[in-house]
Amino acid sequence: MTSVDVLTDVDTAAARLTAGHLCAIPTETVYGLAANAGDASAVARVFVAKGRPSDHPLIVHVADVANVYEWIHDLPEWAVVLVNAVWPGPLTIVGLRTALATDDITGGQDTVAVRVPAHPLALELLSKLRDHNVLGLVAPSANSFGHVSPTTAQHVKDELGDYLAMNGDVILDGGQCEVGVESTIVLAAGDQPVILRPGAITKSDIERITGVQVAEAKGNAPRVSGALASHYAPVAEVVLIDAEKLESLGDEHKDAGLIALESIPTPVGLSRLCEPKTSSEFAAQLYSAMHEADRKNLPVIYVVAPAGTGIEQAIADRLARAATRVKE
Ligand code: TXA
Ligand code: MG
Repeated sequence: MTSVDVLTDVDTAAARLTAGHLCAIPTETVYGLAANAGDASAVARVFVAKGRPSDHPLIVHVADVANVYEWIHDLPEWAVVLVNAVWPGPLTIVGLRTALATDDITGGQDTVAVRVPAHPLALELLSKLRDHNVLGLVAPSANSFGHVSPTTAQHVKDELGDYLAMNGDVILDGGQCEVGVESTIVLAAGDQPVILRPGAITKSDIERITGVQVAEAKGNAPRVSGALASHYAPVAEVVLIDAEKLESLGDEHKDAGLIALESIPTPVGLSRLCEPKTSSEFAAQLYSAMHEADRKNLPVIYVVAPAGTGIEQAIADRLARAATRVKE
């Protein structure tokens, strides 16, 4: 079988997307599996490729802050301030949808998710596509539903390569994603921001930028697929563990992997998967390390999560959903 085309040329990627193909795109957070948001059959294929339930809404990626108004109406003033400060960047805004945001994108909800990604190739692609009347790209993370998100073109190829090759779809290779965890999702349909998914843009960033307090998410918040209990999971069993407990592990840990800050020593017998120096590096390397564990067929990964109220919250959120067990 022929393997999927991996490109670095934005014009070819734009031509494929305009012709109705899918293209995995690099962003600063994770790779997305993109389709022309205005092409219903291409959008439908994104769900097929991922094995994603069709009522799970997608994020529309646009070239510029000004384009948000094509998709969202009545954006609250605090949200206008926020997107102008952060975009391009790892933030998604969920607001009241315009007629452009069709049911196949929003899962039938009256809100739509929009973001401007901070990756030079993605931005060049999005702005070129406007010349072909493509006003936005839907792009969920380019992994099978429930699995770990890809942070390199190789991860996408490993997971979706066969499906993409079979359909003449392509991968745009923009190197390794800098942030490494998915964007912060903020509901922007009221007086106060509500965080639906934590990410690199933190609660205190949002409050500092907008001068408005972040409100607690209510039970009736819109659906977020990443909010399902089991998500972002590798094949290996993920076990969360404290640094002290790690030192007193017995023989049971043979063949296990370790994801922890560099300052935490590797117990004898564990296979170290990454050596991040900071929480940001931890986030950037987390999914790669999980992919690596699966590549090595490790049955278990022990993870010592960094503590803190910044990006550590996003790390803790993803780990809680990936983990099947917490070591008491
Ligand atoms: O960083 C990211 O956001 C990456 C890159 C590729 O941009 N994308 C991403 O997409 O993580 P995905 O589909 O894996 O996650 C998007 C999340 C889903 O959990 C979805 O439910 C939520 O956004 N979402 C989309 N539209 C929504 C809406 N109208 N209301 C609430 N949540 C929404
Ligand atoms: Mg995802």
